[in-house]
Amino acid sequence: MPRPEEVALPSRRERFEDRRKEASHRDLLDQFFDHRTLLAVSRLVNQGLIDSIDFPIATGKEGGVFRATRGDEYRAVKIYRIANATFRNLPAYALDELRRETSVRNYGGLIFAWTRREHTILGRLADAKVRAPYPYGHLRNCLVMEFVGNEAGAAPRLLDAQVDDPEAVYQDLVLQIGRMVRDARLVHGDLSPYNTLLFEGRVVLIDVAQAVTVEHPQALALLERDIANFARFVGRLGFEVDPEEFLRAVGGTDLRPPPAEA
Ligand SMILES: Nc1ncnc2c1ncn2[C@@H]1O[C@H](COP(=O)(O)OP(=O)(O)OP(=O)(O)O)[C@@H](O)[C@H]1O
Ligand SMILES: [Mg+2]
Repeated sequence: MPRPEEVALPSRRERFEDRRKEASHRDLLDQFFDHRTLLAVSRLVNQGLIDSIDFPIATGKEGGVFRATRGDEYRAVKIYRIANATFRNLPAYALDELRRETSVRNYGGLIFAWTRREHTILGRLADAKVRAPYPYGHLRNCLVMEFVGNEAGAAPRLLDAQVDDPEAVYQDLVLQIGRMVRDARLVHGDLSPYNTLLFEGRVVLIDVAQAVTVEHPQALALLERDIANFARFVGRLGFEVDPEEFLRAVGGTDLRPPPAEA
Protein backbone atom coordinates (compact mmCIF):
# COMPACT_ATOMS: atom_id res chain seq x y z
CA MET A 1 0.00 0.00 0.00
CA PRO A 2 1.45 3.40 -0.91
CA ARG A 3 1.40 6.01 1.83
CA PRO A 4 -1.27 8.65 1.28
CA GLU A 5 1.24 11.35 0.40
CA GLU A 6 2.60 9.12 -2.39
CA VAL A 7 -0.71 8.87 -4.17
CA ALA A 8 -0.73 11.48 -6.88
CA LEU A 9 -4.13 13.02 -7.21
CA PRO A 10 -5.27 13.62 -10.79
CA SER A 11 -5.44 17.26 -11.75
CA ARG A 12 -8.75 18.84 -12.66
CA ARG A 13 -7.71 18.65 -16.31
CA GLU A 14 -6.88 14.96 -16.07
CA ARG A 15 -10.19 14.28 -14.41
CA PHE A 16 -11.94 16.06 -17.27
CA GLU A 17 -9.96 14.05 -19.85
CA ASP A 18 -10.82 10.83 -18.04
CA ARG A 19 -14.49 11.67 -18.06
CA ARG A 20 -14.34 12.44 -21.77
CA LYS A 21 -12.60 9.16 -22.53
CA GLU A 22 -15.11 7.34 -20.40
CA ALA A 23 -17.98 9.00 -22.25
CA SER A 24 -16.66 8.07 -25.69
CA HIS A 25 -16.03 4.55 -24.45
CA ARG A 26 -19.60 4.38 -23.18
CA ASP A 27 -20.86 5.61 -26.56
CA LEU A 28 -19.05 2.80 -28.27
CA LEU A 29 -20.38 0.30 -25.78
CA ASP A 30 -23.91 1.56 -26.26
CA GLN A 31 -23.65 1.30 -30.02
CA PHE A 32 -22.51 -2.28 -30.09
CA PHE A 33 -23.48 -3.83 -26.85
CA ASP A 34 -27.21 -3.48 -26.74
CA HIS A 35 -28.93 -5.80 -24.31
CA ARG A 36 -29.21 -8.76 -26.69
CA THR A 37 -25.60 -8.47 -27.81
CA LEU A 38 -24.41 -8.37 -24.20
CA LEU A 39 -26.33 -11.55 -23.53
CA ALA A 40 -24.77 -13.16 -26.59
CA VAL A 41 -21.29 -12.13 -25.44
CA SER A 42 -21.87 -13.54 -21.98
CA ARG A 43 -22.95 -16.82 -23.55
CA LEU A 44 -19.78 -16.87 -25.65
CA VAL A 45 -17.91 -16.59 -22.36
CA ASN A 46 -20.00 -19.33 -20.75
CA GLN A 47 -19.43 -21.58 -23.74
CA GLY A 48 -15.69 -21.08 -23.34
CA LEU A 49 -15.21 -19.46 -26.76
CA ILE A 50 -13.69 -16.37 -25.17
CA ASP A 51 -12.72 -15.25 -21.67
CA SER A 52 -13.02 -11.54 -22.32
CA ILE A 53 -13.42 -8.83 -24.92
CA ASP A 54 -10.40 -6.56 -24.68
CA PHE A 55 -10.75 -3.57 -27.01
CA PRO A 56 -12.03 -2.59 -30.46
CA ILE A 57 -9.70 -3.23 -33.40
CA ALA A 58 -11.95 -1.52 -35.94
CA THR A 59 -15.47 -0.18 -35.88
CA GLY A 60 -17.61 0.77 -38.82
CA LYS A 61 -21.19 1.35 -39.86
CA GLU A 62 -22.10 -2.30 -39.99
CA GLY A 63 -20.25 -3.66 -37.06
CA GLY A 64 -17.06 -3.82 -35.13
CA VAL A 65 -14.21 -6.22 -34.67
CA PHE A 66 -12.83 -6.61 -31.18
CA ARG A 67 -9.78 -8.31 -29.82
CA ALA A 68 -10.64 -10.97 -27.30
CA THR A 69 -8.68 -13.34 -25.11
CA ARG A 70 -9.17 -17.00 -24.43
CA GLY A 71 -6.69 -18.72 -22.19
CA ASP A 72 -3.27 -17.71 -23.40
CA GLU A 73 -4.34 -16.84 -26.93
CA TYR A 74 -5.99 -13.89 -28.60
CA ARG A 75 -9.15 -14.17 -30.65
CA ALA A 76 -11.16 -11.73 -32.73
CA VAL A 77 -14.89 -11.19 -32.29
CA LYS A 78 -16.85 -9.56 -35.09
CA ILE A 79 -20.10 -8.07 -33.90
CA TYR A 80 -22.70 -6.95 -36.40
CA ARG A 81 -24.80 -4.08 -35.16
CA ILE A 82 -28.36 -5.11 -34.66
CA ALA A 83 -29.57 -1.55 -34.38
CA ASN A 84 -28.39 -0.49 -37.80
CA ALA A 85 -29.48 -0.92 -41.37
CA THR A 86 -26.54 -3.14 -42.33
CA PHE A 87 -28.22 -4.66 -45.29
CA ARG A 88 -28.99 -1.51 -47.17
CA ASN A 89 -25.42 -1.59 -48.44
CA LEU A 90 -25.42 -5.22 -49.39
CA PRO A 91 -25.21 -6.06 -53.06
CA ALA A 92 -28.48 -7.53 -54.29
CA TYR A 93 -26.91 -10.83 -55.27
CA ALA A 94 -25.69 -11.38 -51.71
CA LEU A 95 -29.10 -10.71 -50.28
CA ASP A 96 -30.67 -13.12 -52.77
CA GLU A 97 -28.16 -15.72 -51.76
CA LEU A 98 -29.01 -15.23 -48.11
CA ARG A 99 -32.74 -15.45 -48.72
CA ARG A 100 -32.23 -18.64 -50.67
CA GLU A 101 -30.54 -20.44 -47.84
CA THR A 102 -32.56 -19.20 -44.90
CA SER A 103 -36.11 -18.26 -44.22
CA VAL A 104 -35.50 -14.90 -42.71
CA ARG A 105 -38.53 -13.05 -41.55
CA ASN A 106 -37.11 -10.09 -39.74
CA TYR A 107 -34.13 -7.83 -39.70
CA GLY A 108 -32.50 -9.42 -36.64
CA GLY A 109 -32.92 -12.83 -38.22
CA LEU A 110 -31.19 -11.57 -41.33
CA ILE A 111 -28.18 -10.43 -39.31
CA PHE A 112 -27.97 -13.72 -37.46
CA ALA A 113 -28.13 -15.60 -40.75
CA TRP A 114 -25.45 -13.32 -42.16
CA THR A 115 -23.19 -14.03 -39.16
CA ARG A 116 -23.75 -17.76 -39.56
CA ARG A 117 -22.98 -17.44 -43.23
CA GLU A 118 -19.64 -15.77 -42.55
CA HIS A 119 -18.83 -18.58 -40.11
CA THR A 120 -19.73 -21.27 -42.66
CA ILE A 121 -17.68 -19.67 -45.40
CA LEU A 122 -14.64 -19.26 -43.13
CA GLY A 123 -14.99 -22.97 -42.30
CA ARG A 124 -15.01 -23.86 -45.96
CA LEU A 125 -11.92 -21.73 -46.52
CA ALA A 126 -10.16 -23.43 -43.61
CA ASP A 127 -10.96 -26.85 -45.15
CA ALA A 128 -9.43 -25.67 -48.43
CA LYS A 129 -6.36 -24.30 -46.62
CA VAL A 130 -7.04 -20.75 -47.75
CA ARG A 131 -5.33 -18.29 -45.41
CA ALA A 132 -8.26 -16.67 -43.61
CA PRO A 133 -9.20 -16.42 -39.91
CA TYR A 134 -10.24 -19.79 -38.50
CA PRO A 135 -13.84 -19.62 -37.23
CA TYR A 136 -14.30 -20.86 -33.66
CA GLY A 137 -17.99 -20.28 -33.33
CA HIS A 138 -20.86 -17.86 -33.71
CA LEU A 139 -23.87 -16.82 -31.75
CA ARG A 140 -26.59 -14.45 -32.91
CA ASN A 141 -24.72 -11.40 -34.29
CA CYS A 142 -21.29 -12.40 -32.91
CA LEU A 143 -18.59 -14.35 -34.72
CA VAL A 144 -15.53 -15.63 -32.88
CA MET A 145 -12.51 -16.19 -35.09
CA GLU A 146 -8.76 -16.41 -35.11
CA PHE A 147 -7.01 -13.14 -34.33
CA VAL A 148 -4.63 -12.08 -37.09
CA GLY A 149 -1.83 -10.28 -35.32
CA ASN A 150 0.30 -10.56 -32.24
CA GLU A 151 1.14 -8.85 -28.94
CA ALA A 152 1.93 -5.66 -30.82
CA GLY A 153 -1.55 -5.47 -32.32
CA ALA A 154 -3.75 -6.54 -35.21
CA ALA A 155 -2.19 -7.04 -38.63
CA PRO A 156 -2.56 -4.05 -40.96
CA ARG A 157 -4.78 -4.09 -44.01
CA LEU A 158 -2.82 -4.73 -47.18
CA LEU A 159 -3.77 -1.20 -48.16
CA ASP A 160 -1.93 0.28 -45.18
CA ALA A 161 0.91 -2.21 -45.01
CA GLN A 162 4.46 -1.59 -46.05
CA VAL A 163 4.95 -3.87 -49.07
CA ASP A 164 8.58 -4.49 -49.93
CA ASP A 165 8.07 -7.19 -52.52
CA PRO A 166 4.88 -6.68 -54.60
CA GLU A 167 5.63 -9.71 -56.75
CA ALA A 168 5.67 -11.96 -53.68
CA VAL A 169 2.33 -10.48 -52.60
CA TYR A 170 0.98 -11.16 -56.08
CA GLN A 171 2.18 -14.79 -55.99
CA ASP A 172 0.63 -15.22 -52.55
CA LEU A 173 -2.67 -13.75 -53.77
CA VAL A 174 -2.63 -16.16 -56.71
CA LEU A 175 -2.09 -19.06 -54.32
CA GLN A 176 -4.82 -18.03 -51.85
CA ILE A 177 -7.43 -16.96 -54.42
CA GLY A 178 -6.58 -20.05 -56.49
CA ARG A 179 -7.33 -22.31 -53.51
CA MET A 180 -10.50 -20.37 -52.88
CA VAL A 181 -11.72 -20.87 -56.44
CA ARG A 182 -10.44 -24.39 -57.16
CA ASP A 183 -10.69 -26.07 -53.76
CA ALA A 184 -13.28 -24.12 -51.76
CA ARG A 185 -15.23 -23.44 -54.99
CA LEU A 186 -15.96 -19.92 -53.80
CA VAL A 187 -15.56 -16.40 -55.15
CA HIS A 188 -15.03 -13.73 -52.50
CA GLY A 189 -16.85 -10.91 -54.29
CA ASP A 190 -15.51 -8.03 -52.19
CA LEU A 191 -11.82 -8.69 -52.34
CA SER A 192 -9.53 -5.70 -52.24
CA PRO A 193 -6.57 -4.37 -50.25
CA TYR A 194 -9.22 -3.27 -47.71
CA ASN A 195 -10.42 -6.80 -47.03
CA THR A 196 -6.98 -8.36 -47.00
CA LEU A 197 -4.56 -8.24 -44.10
CA LEU A 198 -0.82 -8.60 -44.38
CA PHE A 199 0.67 -10.62 -41.53
CA GLU A 200 4.25 -11.81 -41.37
CA GLY A 201 4.65 -10.97 -45.04
CA ARG A 202 1.68 -13.05 -46.17
CA VAL A 203 -1.88 -12.18 -47.14
CA VAL A 204 -4.92 -13.15 -45.08
CA LEU A 205 -8.35 -12.88 -46.68
CA ILE A 206 -11.12 -11.50 -44.44
CA ASP A 207 -14.70 -10.23 -44.56
CA VAL A 208 -16.08 -13.15 -46.53
CA ALA A 209 -19.82 -13.19 -45.79
CA GLN A 210 -20.79 -12.09 -49.30
CA ALA A 211 -18.83 -14.85 -51.04
CA VAL A 212 -20.73 -16.96 -53.58
CA THR A 213 -20.13 -20.40 -55.01
CA VAL A 214 -18.46 -20.67 -58.40
CA GLU A 215 -21.79 -21.90 -59.80
CA HIS A 216 -23.44 -18.58 -59.02
CA PRO A 217 -24.46 -16.72 -62.19
CA GLN A 218 -22.40 -13.69 -61.11
CA ALA A 219 -19.37 -15.62 -59.88
CA LEU A 220 -17.19 -14.92 -62.90
CA ALA A 221 -18.03 -11.21 -63.02
CA LEU A 222 -17.32 -10.88 -59.28
CA LEU A 223 -14.03 -12.72 -59.59
CA GLU A 224 -13.00 -10.52 -62.52
CA ARG A 225 -13.68 -7.48 -60.36
CA ASP A 226 -11.72 -8.90 -57.39
CA ILE A 227 -8.80 -9.66 -59.68
CA ALA A 228 -8.93 -6.22 -61.30
CA ASN A 229 -8.74 -4.61 -57.82
CA PHE A 230 -5.57 -6.47 -57.00
CA ALA A 231 -4.03 -6.08 -60.45
CA ARG A 232 -4.39 -2.31 -60.03
CA PHE A 233 -3.00 -2.45 -56.52
CA VAL A 234 0.15 -4.42 -57.32
CA GLY A 235 0.53 -2.34 -60.48
CA ARG A 236 0.66 0.83 -58.36
CA LEU A 237 3.33 -0.84 -56.25
CA GLY A 238 5.39 -1.39 -59.39
CA PHE A 239 4.50 -4.94 -60.36
CA GLU A 240 2.50 -4.95 -63.58
CA VAL A 241 0.27 -7.94 -64.13
CA ASP A 242 -2.16 -8.69 -66.92
CA PRO A 243 -5.61 -9.24 -65.35
CA GLU A 244 -6.34 -12.01 -67.86
CA GLU A 245 -3.16 -13.82 -66.83
CA PHE A 246 -4.05 -13.29 -63.14
CA LEU A 247 -7.54 -14.69 -63.77
CA ARG A 248 -6.12 -17.75 -65.50
CA ALA A 249 -3.61 -18.30 -62.69
CA VAL A 250 -6.40 -18.60 -60.10
CA GLY A 251 -8.52 -20.91 -62.25
CA GLY A 252 -11.00 -18.17 -63.11
CA THR A 253 -10.94 -18.72 -66.87
CA ASP A 254 -12.35 -22.22 -66.21
CA LEU A 255 -15.53 -20.53 -65.02
CA ARG A 256 -16.17 -19.19 -68.51
CA PRO A 257 -18.86 -21.02 -70.41
CA PRO A 258 -17.39 -23.30 -73.09
CA PRO A 259 -17.50 -21.77 -76.55
CA ALA A 260 -20.59 -22.82 -78.47
CA GLU A 261 -19.83 -25.57 -81.00
CA ALA A 262 -19.80 -24.51 -84.60
N1 LIG B 1 -9.55 -11.89 -37.55
C1 LIG B 1 -9.10 -10.63 -37.47
N2 LIG B 1 -7.93 -10.36 -36.83
C2 LIG B 1 -7.47 -9.09 -36.75
N3 LIG B 1 -8.11 -8.02 -37.27
C3 LIG B 1 -9.27 -8.22 -37.91
C4 LIG B 1 -9.82 -9.53 -38.05
N4 LIG B 1 -10.98 -9.43 -38.74
C5 LIG B 1 -11.14 -8.14 -39.01
N5 LIG B 1 -10.13 -7.39 -38.52
C6 LIG B 1 -10.00 -5.92 -38.60
O1 LIG B 1 -11.28 -5.35 -38.58
C7 LIG B 1 -11.53 -4.61 -39.78
C8 LIG B 1 -12.98 -4.81 -40.23
O2 LIG B 1 -13.21 -6.19 -40.50
P1 LIG B 1 -14.14 -6.63 -41.69
O3 LIG B 1 -13.63 -6.09 -42.98
O4 LIG B 1 -14.33 -8.10 -41.58
O5 LIG B 1 -15.51 -5.95 -41.27
P2 LIG B 1 -16.45 -4.93 -42.05
O6 LIG B 1 -17.75 -5.01 -41.39
O7 LIG B 1 -16.38 -5.11 -43.51
O8 LIG B 1 -15.81 -3.58 -41.71
P3 LIG B 1 -15.32 -2.52 -42.80
O9 LIG B 1 -16.57 -1.94 -43.36
O10 LIG B 1 -14.48 -1.60 -41.99
O11 LIG B 1 -14.53 -3.31 -43.84
C9 LIG B 1 -10.50 -5.11 -40.76
O12 LIG B 1 -10.15 -4.12 -41.70
C10 LIG B 1 -9.33 -5.47 -39.88
O13 LIG B 1 -8.58 -4.32 -39.60
MG1 LIG C 1 -14.42 -5.12 -44.67
